[in-house]
Amino acid sequence: MPRLSPRSVTLQESPIRKLAPFARAAEARGTKVIYLNIGQPDMPTPPEMIAELHGLALDRLAYAPSEGLPRAREAWSAFFASWGISFAPDEILVTTGASEAITFALGVTAGGGGEVLVFEPCYTNYLSFAAQADVTLSPITLRVEEGYHFGSAERLRARLTPKTRAILLCNPSNPTGTAYTLEELEAVAEVAVEADLFVICDEVYREFVYDGGEVRSFSRFRELEDRIIVVDSVSKRFNACGVRIGCMASHNRQVLDVALRMCQARLSVATAEQLMVVPMLEEGRAYSERLRTEYEGRRDAVYNGLARIDGLTPHRSEGSFYTMTRLPISSCEEFALWLLRDFEDGGETVCLAPGAGFYVSDGLGVDEVRIAFMYDAATLTRAMAILDAALAAAPSRSEVGAAAR
Ligand SMILES: Cc1ncc(COP(=O)(O)O)c(C=O)c1O
Repeated sequence: MPRLSPRSVTLQESPIRKLAPFARAAEARGTKVIYLNIGQPDMPTPPEMIAELHGLALDRLAYAPSEGLPRAREAWSAFFASWGISFAPDEILVTTGASEAITFALGVTAGGGGEVLVFEPCYTNYLSFAAQADVTLSPITLRVEEGYHFGSAERLRARLTPKTRAILLCNPSNPTGTAYTLEELEAVAEVAVEADLFVICDEVYREFVYDGGEVRSFSRFRELEDRIIVVDSVSKRFNACGVRIGCMASHNRQVLDVALRMCQARLSVATAEQLMVVPMLEEGRAYSERLRTEYEGRRDAVYNGLARIDGLTPHRSEGSFYTMTRLPISSCEEFALWLLRDFEDGGETVCLAPGAGFYVSDGLGVDEVRIAFMYDAATLTRAMAILDAALAAAPSRSEVGAAAR
């Protein structure tokens, strides 16, 4: 039997999706499952986008140019401009979601053995993207007690090695909901210049900042002109995850040139989908602002619900549509399984994303969970009450793991 490559077998199974069979089994037993584990928006895709798809006068679906259709690149440039961000169409490469853009950006900056600084907990797929690009993620561990803020440049400096090539950050953050302060962004910029690094800014949740917080793109740092790679996507902001359209943008010609070679190797991004998002990119700012208001209400429902649970000190998400929290449970993975296999409250239960999968470092996050805000505020309030009841009913808060096995 031929052997699989050692690198491929180290790829982690998605911590978000691996509970799916247990959730389906709970549903088959007649239990209603509230899915707090996955960031798949519950709202409809804008009808303008669907209408655009139906109206496309395409008689031949040929390969699009590898860098993206001119109309799509122009629309991305207009979208950025609507948020005060300046990228010319020829500084933008259209990609198959932000996922491909991040994989390319890691490959361009650190592929083949380089190191990239990342804050953990982080978007769990960063681990797989890095593995595919042969990049080592060097984690700076953030703590819920600090609202997952890192505070100062020293935390970054302490992780630098001669192999460090870039800093990858998601702002506002999935999974923590942290919106980094201006001082923190300045600290990242300072270290990037000092240590001659690229900054890969995953800004797929850029506009989702709450409590009147400022929408801050990393591209505001003019001194970083050549170092910045902005990654973006229509998935979340336009409720269009299945469209699979994103982009990477940079002012650095070498970065664009090498990334374009990666684009050429995968030939092109889906033609119709690049076009169907154009109207929303050009006119969608008001739409995302409405979404922001909706998510802020949901954030409040989750935060208030968690704050009511005895023994929990949740942190209030400042952005994105997630939060992470520590539970008084020794293994949140076993607790999540127990919730699906053995628990229900009034015929309902919740599906949580166990925290460990969001950490690069082994052994961290075992007592944390990520919660996504993918239901209306009333359902989320109910979900937090179910969680409260489950924590009270768990066989022993510190031994729930053993009980579930
Ligand atoms: C932080 C972050 N980056 C990137 C992605 C991937 O986005 P896309 O659907 O555009 O590939 C996601 C999706 O959940 C995300 O949360």
